[in-house]
Amino acid sequence: MFTINNSFELRDKGRSDSKDTALLPRHRWYVLKEAFSPELVMSAINKAEVKEGELIIDPFSGSGTTALTSSLNGFKGIGIEVNPFLAFVAETKLISREPNTINKYLPLIKNSFNKQVKSHLEGISTFSETNNDEKWLFNTSVLRTFESGWQAVQTIPSTTKKIFQLCLIGAAMDVCNAKPDGKCLRYKKKWMDLDYNEKDFKDAFEKRICNVIEDINQTTLNKSSNIVHADCRKYLETLVDEKFKLCVTSPPYLNSFDYSDVYRPEMFLGRFIKDNNDLMAVRMQTMRSHIQASWKAPERIISSHLLQESLSKIIERHDLLWSNKIPSMILAYFEDWDNILRNLDCKSEKNAQLWIVVSTSAYAGIEIPVDLIIADIATKHNWYLQEIGVLRYIRTSGQHWNNIEDKAQKPSLRESVIILRKQI
Ligand SMILES: C[S@@+](CC[C@H](N)C(=O)[O-])C[C@H]1O[C@@H](n2cnc3c(N)ncnc32)[C@H](O)[C@@H]1O
Repeated sequence: MFTINNSFELRDKGRSDSKDTALLPRHRWYVLKEAFSPELVMSAINKAEVKEGELIIDPFSGSGTTALTSSLNGFKGIGIEVNPFLAFVAETKLISREPNTINKYLPLIKNSFNKQVKSHLEGISTFSETNNDEKWLFNTSVLRTFESGWQAVQTIPSTTKKIFQLCLIGAAMDVCNAKPDGKCLRYKKKWMDLDYNEKDFKDAFEKRICNVIEDINQTTLNKSSNIVHADCRKYLETLVDEKFKLCVTSPPYLNSFDYSDVYRPEMFLGRFIKDNNDLMAVRMQTMRSHIQASWKAPERIISSHLLQESLSKIIERHDLLWSNKIPSMILAYFEDWDNILRNLDCKSEKNAQLWIVVSTSAYAGIEIPVDLIIADIATKHNWYLQEIGVLRYIRTSGQHWNNIEDKAQKPSLRESVIILRKQI
């Protein structure tokens, strides 16, 4: 039976969140609320004693914290990310480029802001104000100034263009009427009074591009680091040329959170997707941790008594579930894990380490010890559990408990890091 280390040295130090990232060079170019801290990656690099030339990977790269931290510290980091916008974010943070190129083209972009160009998103969904909507994400002048800048960058060489595009999308999101909050976008308090306009957008862009110029001057990267835009479940099977020494990752938690939904505005703004069919195609490639897509049903029962135990209790209380797809989602999630852990075993060096940041989950009032179950599955694929260190305890979200009468029974969920070593 595995034990949980409640006195873990990284506990309650903000290592599973991105609060300390907003001021850090390059990381600050786009901060994900769900990102973990670069400090966590540094702890893993030090503990695993990674040496120059050894590879560090993150199959669920998100905003690229692992690859960027590795690269900034002289190591080769590879991130794999299925969401095209997030892959773009992480890839852009790894661009080495002289600030002179940015300065050369900056006046072109700034001048373009003087005219407003009709956006392809006007009138679509809740992107802009229409006669019928009570709420909309972007005020028309913001969308049009963004569009004008977007068209201007099309003539710029590719890498510099990406930097400008990231700043344009970032600026638009700074003055968006809603912001990410847990599973969804939530409208800002008194968003109408904020009354964002083209000046707010231009100021936000200016701030972002200044940060980029400052950071590019001050940072050196390991130039062989990179980001792959792919579904890691498939990509890991084909990664043949190199083995990794360390994997630091945080998958989607088993909490029905769909990243494709939360980053939908960015995907549309940046033309990474053009309609809801494209959005669904992205969703279909994500880890089966939510019910927003019609997944293939799980094909195998993963042998883990902890999984079976939680699942049977949840099925007994099925009338309390907010969707009847939840038991299948739980099975599918761990089936994905089984495949990933097998592939990670094949692609790792003999003394490799895995650091996996996850949270436990709860459905129908039953807690699912996700960290213990993943550790259990990992041991069947040549991984030896070093420890499960608690990073923090968190409040359970309302949705998990809506139907539970006895609120006093609410357990708090645990965010932890599972540290595994390859068995030699
Ligand atoms: C918790 S976030 C990772 C955040 C990241 N640690 C950071 O610091 O930004 C999980 C990420 O996994 C990605 N993801 C989900 N399914 C995936 C898949 N099948 N292959 C690759 N990435 C996937 C999501 O798009 C999301 O960006």
